[in-house]
Amino acid sequence: MGVTIDVRVAAVRELAPDVRELTLTPLNGTPLPAFSPGSHVVVHVPGERTRRNPYSLACAPWSTDAYRIAVRRLDDGRGGSRAVHEHVGEGDVLAIEPPRNLFAPVVGARRHLLVAGGIGITPFVSYAHQLVADGVPFELHHAPTGGPLADELAALCPGAVHAHAGRDELMAAVEAALDAQPLGTHLSVCGPPAMMEAVCDAARRHGWPGSRVHLERFVLDTGPMDPFAVRLARSGREIAVGEDESLLEALEAAGVDVPYLCRQGICGECRLGLLEGTPDHRDIFLTADERAAGTAIMPCVSRCAGDGPLVLDLA
Ligand code: FES
Repeated sequence: MGVTIDVRVAAVRELAPDVRELTLTPLNGTPLPAFSPGSHVVVHVPGERTRRNPYSLACAPWSTDAYRIAVRRLDDGRGGSRAVHEHVGEGDVLAIEPPRNLFAPVVGARRHLLVAGGIGITPFVSYAHQLVADGVPFELHHAPTGGPLADELAALCPGAVHAHAGRDELMAAVEAALDAQPLGTHLSVCGPPAMMEAVCDAARRHGWPGSRVHLERFVLDTGPMDPFAVRLARSGREIAVGEDESLLEALEAAGVDVPYLCRQGICGECRLGLLEGTPDHRDIFLTADERAAGTAIMPCVSRCAGDGPLVLDLA
């Protein structure tokens, strides 16, 4: 396990019926690390089984006295967000990992067009603080309207933040905005998969090259969580993966160290060699050819098609 920082839950705020915000302060008075806009932290959520869930930092990048994260409750997830909602309260101590960034704004962009759906607004809080401080122009379109984070951003950068009632209104505004940007603008999108797909389609139709479109996916459809078995080829060890855990979590619980960054099937950091078995790929990192070859698996989200075993190139 990597380095962790102990933090206290200094405040809990309900942002919406299914979203709660935690303010996390350092336990020993040592400032928290400054971070770059778009960073996330992995939170070790205590419970019967410790979950390590990534959450975007929703505060200014220089906010070293307190981090804020927003956690949406997912009842069909693996239980980490549910545990935050049901068992984490003010005064509790949590372990977090230092900030990492998979969604940094493009340095040198002349302008930023930001589009957020629902809780996808969270990474843009740190973006907005940084862009305002740097004097870089941007506009943010988000839906639905309302919510403390949206209100905070509207107050921070009046005129740059546009709230829309729902998806149709958001997409109409995005279509118009895509045509109105000067050369050198970069588009960044965060939200539910269907909304992100719609924005990417619109960007393609409006002639935006892929190199100027950036995505932050924060939730993947996990699908059924049936148990299965894996075997570690180099030691012959058998490990059972339960219905309430990922393959990565089962390996970690068994003391097998696997590097990771996103824990959401996006970054590719946890890639493992697969020697035998039929994987159920749920990541968005492997290419179609790599999937067809069947020689690699991303254990943070992918599972086994059937009972297994999957035979992994691990000791
Ligand atoms: S940790 Fe990023 S793909 Fe698994």
